[in-house]
Amino acid sequence: MKGIVLAGGTGSRLFPLTKITNKHLLPIYDKPMIYFPIETLVEAGIRDLLVVTGGRNSGDFLRLLENGKEFGLKHINYAYQEGEGGIAEALALAEHFAENSKICVILGDNIIEGSIAEAVRSFQQQERGAKILLKKVPDAERFGVAEIVGDRISGIEEKPAHPKSSYAVTGIYMYDKTVFDKTRTLKPSARGELEITDVNNAYIHEGTMTFSYLEGWWTDAGTFESLLHAANLVRETRRGKQKPHLAKAGVLQG
Ligand code: DAU
Repeated sequence: MKGIVLAGGTGSRLFPLTKITNKHLLPIYDKPMIYFPIETLVEAGIRDLLVVTGGRNSGDFLRLLENGKEFGLKHINYAYQEGEGGIAEALALAEHFAENSKICVILGDNIIEGSIAEAVRSFQQQERGAKILLKKVPDAERFGVAEIVGDRISGIEEKPAHPKSSYAVTGIYMYDKTVFDKTRTLKPSARGELEITDVNNAYIHEGTMTFSYLEGWWTDAGTFESLLHAANLVRETRRGKQKPHLAKAGVLQG
């Protein structure tokens, strides 16, 4: 399976932090944000990666990531999104790279504690369609929200004022090759973007969407609050993984 990291957009919700750099190059505790989604894909065994970025600072991604040696990769592919026409517009730029194979897409500001290896393995076995990962959250109105009926997903609403469940659709999506036919049919939403939720709903309507629940913590990092929250979660996890008894006692480990 091929992997795609979407790191375009202007990061306007983080202005002025994003006035002179790209959101995904900002630090999350001890690493640039973009490292986390790349590590998530690589840990799941995905080695063929495309980073889609944009804006004035796109050259900095190449300088930072180079050929991916730091992640054990020999090569990283890059694509450039003009403007900020939405997640699905950024994804559409990956069509040539995907070459009809299945893809695993991750949003560049999505940071997780655990692993997606099991979900990737299960999607490899799935004959066709798509797979998404859900996470129970206290603030579902900030996200795409899944409506679950029994063991089935019946629809997704993007940032609903009155969410029908507490299950956010995380920014980790697995698609078969028909995803690019679907992105071609999209119309811009009220916020002027091609929405990934419309792509996911197209799979739901054709009855080929599966889902699983993401283990461990999950956060985005696109607002001041979530950026800080992400850094704190990473810091706590690092401390916990070092010497749990010291972390518990509140001793900061260097
Ligand atoms: O984090 C999960 C949520 O991400 C989902 O629950 C929502 O359904 C989905 O729409 C998305 O919501 P956001 O409004 O938080 O997405 P945002 O505009 O912050 O973009 C998230 C990432 O997608 C961003 O870090 C980079 C990439 N992106 C976004 C846009 C608008 C692009 O690559 N190009 C773009 O034009």
